[in-house]
Order: sequence, then C-alpha cells, then structure tokens
Amino acid sequence: MSTTLFSPLTVGDLSFANRMVMAPLTRSRAGEGGVPTALMAEYYAQRASAGLIITEATQVHPTGQGYIATPGIHTDAQEAGWKSVVSAIHAQGGKACLQLWHVGRISHTSFQPGGAAPLAPSAIRANMKAYTVEGFVDCSEPQAMSEAQIREVVSAYGEATRRAMAAGFDMVEVHAANGYLIDQFLRSGSNQRTDAYGGSVDNRLRFLKEVVAEVLRHAPAQRVGCRISPVSGFNDIADAKPAETFSAVAQFLGSQKLAYLHIIEGQTGGERATDLVDFAALRATFKAAGGHTTLVNNGYTREMGDAAVSSGAADWVAYGVPFLANPDLVARFKNNWPLNTPDQATFYGGAEKGYTDYPRYAAK
Ligand code: PHB
Repeated sequence: MSTTLFSPLTVGDLSFANRMVMAPLTRSRAGEGGVPTALMAEYYAQRASAGLIITEATQVHPTGQGYIATPGIHTDAQEAGWKSVVSAIHAQGGKACLQLWHVGRISHTSFQPGGAAPLAPSAIRANMKAYTVEGFVDCSEPQAMSEAQIREVVSAYGEATRRAMAAGFDMVEVHAANGYLIDQFLRSGSNQRTDAYGGSVDNRLRFLKEVVAEVLRHAPAQRVGCRISPVSGFNDIADAKPAETFSAVAQFLGSQKLAYLHIIEGQTGGERATDLVDFAALRATFKAAGGHTTLVNNGYTREMGDAAVSSGAADWVAYGVPFLANPDLVARFKNNWPLNTPDQATFYGGAEKGYTDYPRYAAK
C-alpha cells in the first residue's frame, strides 16, 4: 500500500500516528510574563490528532521578543506552563515539538530589557512594523551583536532546549526561517559583519552551527528539527545567492543527523512558485548528508500533501491555517468533510473566540 498523509511514521524511538503536522502559528495569547495558559493547553489538545504539533514560536531569551503576548521558555513559570500544555497534548495521544525563537531585529525597544536596541547581526533596520502597546510602530534600529551577546544568546538556545525536554516535549524545532535572528545571520542582506560571523557562506552559517551544537548538548538529534524559508522575503529579508546559502544549510543540518528539515516553499503564507531555489534538491541534500525526514509547508491542500507524501517527495506535510480553523483536520481530510472558514480577525490576541471555539465536524 502506498504511503498517505494518514500513514504512521517512526523517527528514532518516536512514533507518529500520521504525516500531518500542525505548523507553528503565533496566536499571541500567552499570559503575564510569557507564561502558557490553560486555554493554550486546551487549544493544542483539541488539535492532538495531528501526527506532530509544532508550537507557536517561543522566545529563548528576554531579548528574543518582538510581539505582544508571545510565550517564552526561559523562566521557571514558562517551563511549568509548557509542561501543562504538553501533558494535555500527550493525554490526547499527540506529540509535541517546541519552536525555539529569537526575533532579532524584528522588535522594538519597548519589548527589550532596559529599553535597549534589539539584537541583530548588523545594525540594519528592518523595514517592518512592530505591534506594541501603542499600536503599530516602526521596528527599531538594532545593535550589531557583540561576541559576548552572541555567546549569551547561543547558550540560551541550549538552556531553552533543556527546559523543553524537562517540560516533556518530544522534540524541539530551531526556527531559522522568516527573517528572524538566525535567518538574519544566514542571509547576506541583513548580515554585513566583517568578523567570523559574516561574509562567506561558512561564516554566515556559524551562528546557526553554534545554536545547533548547543541544542544538541541538551537533546538527541532525533528530537531536533529545523525550519528554513530560503526564498521568503517576509520580514524584509533577502539573500544574494539563496541556492548556495541554503544548500550549505541543508548539508550542515543533515550532517548533524537532525530529525527533520522543515522548508517553507516560496513566500511565507503566499506565492509558492520560485525559480531561485530547488526545494527538492535541498531535501535530497539534507537526507544524503544524514538527515532523517523532510517536512514541506506553505499553502498545501489535502491533494498536494497526499501527492508529496505518496511520491516520496516529503515525509510530512505541515498545515497552518487549516489546523487553526479545524481542530479535527485529520478526520476531515480522511473523510473528505468540509472545512471551517478561518477568521483572520481573531488570529492574534484575544481569548476563546477564534481560538478554542472552532467546531469539530458534525453531520447535519
Ligand atoms: C508572526 O507573528 O507573524 C510570525 C511569527 C513567527 C513566524 C512567522 C510569523 O515564523
């Protein structure tokens, strides 16, 4: 029988019920101090029939925040909150992966400890808005990280991984996509450093390499994935030679025997087509170098996902907005049931509405 979205999958000692992944989705509903809430536990538990849930992006360090009410994983209270979320997912038979995040320059001084300038590889402002308590304002001009600041943030990724494992997460995902800190180091437009962290592809990869090494001190490779978005311009980011840069990234991540490589194909949440990068080639590079599985994402329908998995092009398919609006997305796909309509107005912030109140399918 051919592999479908509903076929089980094993990675190392972890078994997953199917190939449908809930993609990481920022929902901005964390409690005071970036602590995950009981409502978040309910939301994720409702979606536990996904083969794997990747959580919303979660800051590894106080300087890693750039949005209101995003959760963290750098305090005891945050770790305890996540432990409740993971328990709720596990109680429903699901598997959970925490997405490790630092926004870098996609931030504003009002989010930063002491009102300091946000951290970035280079002092180049992103032409983006940050949503603060005072509404939308320009992202602040960042400061170029010193070597000491780099060391501190790299070690925060390790500490966050230790906390994630202590909270019971099955996996962690290193967020190296979407123009946030790691991506800012990888891509030539935002990284103009002249030291060992900038210039050549090897140098631009150094920060990612140090982060992955630190993460692997606290979790085995079979429990670590990484997300990239090689051609996405989201968050005002660009690279002069994305095929070259991300081929080296895929090669490195594979050589570390990571559990999965998660690729956002095309523009984040938008146009998929591109002639800049061959995503199949990146997946092949990752696997040939020793990586275990590949995850594809961005605008996949059920049919596209089934084709990707049954042809062997990818091992998993990550669905974002469809999971947000359909807690029982797996059953709906399996039975060809119609989908709920997502409500954009309640994507970010608020409470139950547009979060835990999307209904499961009920025959009329
Ligand atoms: C967002 O909050 O809009 C957001 C966060 C993380 C991403 C992408 C978008 O990777």
